[in-house]
Amino acid sequence: MKPRKRHVLLLWMLVCSGMTEAIEPISTTIAVGMAATLTAFLASYQNIFYYFHECCRPEWISFNRTALEADLESKLFGQHIASRIILKAVNGFMKNENPKKPLVLSLHGWTGTGKNFVSKLIAENIYKEGMDSSFVHVFTSTLHFPHPSQYLTYKSQLQQWIKGNVSNCERSMFIFDEMDKMHPGLIDSIKPYLDYYDKLDGVSYRKAIFIFLSNAGGDSIIQTALNFWKDGRKREEMELKDLETMLTLAVFNNNQSGFFHASLIDKNLVDFFVPFLPLEYSHVVQCALAEMRARGRKPDWGVADKVAKDLVYFPKTEGVFSVKGCKTIVSKLDYYT
Ligand SMILES: *[C@@H]1O[C@H](CO)[C@@H](O)[C@H](O)[C@H]1NC(C)=O
Ligand SMILES: *[C@@H]1O[C@H](CO)[C@@H](O)[C@H](O)[C@H]1NC(C)=O
Ligand SMILES: *[C@@H]1O[C@H](CO)[C@@H](O)[C@H](O)[C@H]1NC(C)=O
Repeated sequence: MKPRKRHVLLLWMLVCSGMTEAIEPISTTIAVGMAATLTAFLASYQNIFYYFHECCRPEWISFNRTALEADLESKLFGQHIASRIILKAVNGFMKNENPKKPLVLSLHGWTGTGKNFVSKLIAENIYKEGMDSSFVHVFTSTLHFPHPSQYLTYKSQLQQWIKGNVSNCERSMFIFDEMDKMHPGLIDSIKPYLDYYDKLDGVSYRKAIFIFLSNAGGDSIIQTALNFWKDGRKREEMELKDLETMLTLAVFNNNQSGFFHASLIDKNLVDFFVPFLPLEYSHVVQCALAEMRARGRKPDWGVADKVAKDLVYFPKTEGVFSVKGCKTIVSKLDYYT
């Protein structure tokens, strides 16, 4: 290692880790006066450094329950069940100083219902840098692991990434998009990290967060929502128990999905299954209004209505649910305004 590089690394260790432990071994070898000067210098430098450089420290990683609750309420529409579970799960986990296993959430539902969006909200309310944080990692099956034949390579790569990143920061977050398209062997390979181990090879994964996103079970969620609608019952009366059995059955019995082969569910490694309901016209209108607000414009009901009416709804005869949820709202708004 070049001297200069070593110097930078030492400085990084000093400023990103706790001050006292880092200073201790140095101060025993350096004259007291010099150590004091150095300490004073580093202390001021450290504060500046924390401020500009993301570290695995509370300055950059801290959960704000109030803010997540406010975000879920004002930015996520039509997902009363998911909202409730997410808030409870994340809050409970982040409050616990000594969790027995990492938090594992499995989000299910069709395109455009808000699975990616909710992951983003969670990240934003834990990491100051949100999705741009160097402690948040997103893996997309079709992008990162496209060739089933190479899964053994992916497997060792993925295990190294998880281990390396959690070693750097135990509060790491891993989001797996398109989980249902992931090779079953690959899913199996992350199982040890989700389990109740104190440590694996000297690394503790208990403070990490894993979020799986998939369409698996989406059909059964839609069926349940549709039955509710046909029975004339209010959507908000729908509860997790109305969906849970159907959801796990659908995920289990779908032989196309990696979940089926993997024993994630079998071993109860997933802490929460979170269903995302199909969205209705009124939710799409809310999405459009929220997008206008986010762009700093005055919400325009006329435009929101036009955008929402422009989408395709199913089933064909009744037209209750938006086929693509809120997904195409952004581009539609560009078109109408
Ligand atoms: C948490 O978020 C709320 C709402 O955004 C904010 O008012 C409050 O100051 C935050 N609390 C902390 C400790 O950052
Ligand atoms: C952390 O994960 C990223 C992928 O998100 C990977 O590129 C990087 O090498 C990992 N870091 C370590 C130290 O393993
Ligand atoms: C998956 O299940 C379907 C319906 O149960 C069946 O028709 C199909 O052959 C199965 N595919 C495989 C690969 O087992």
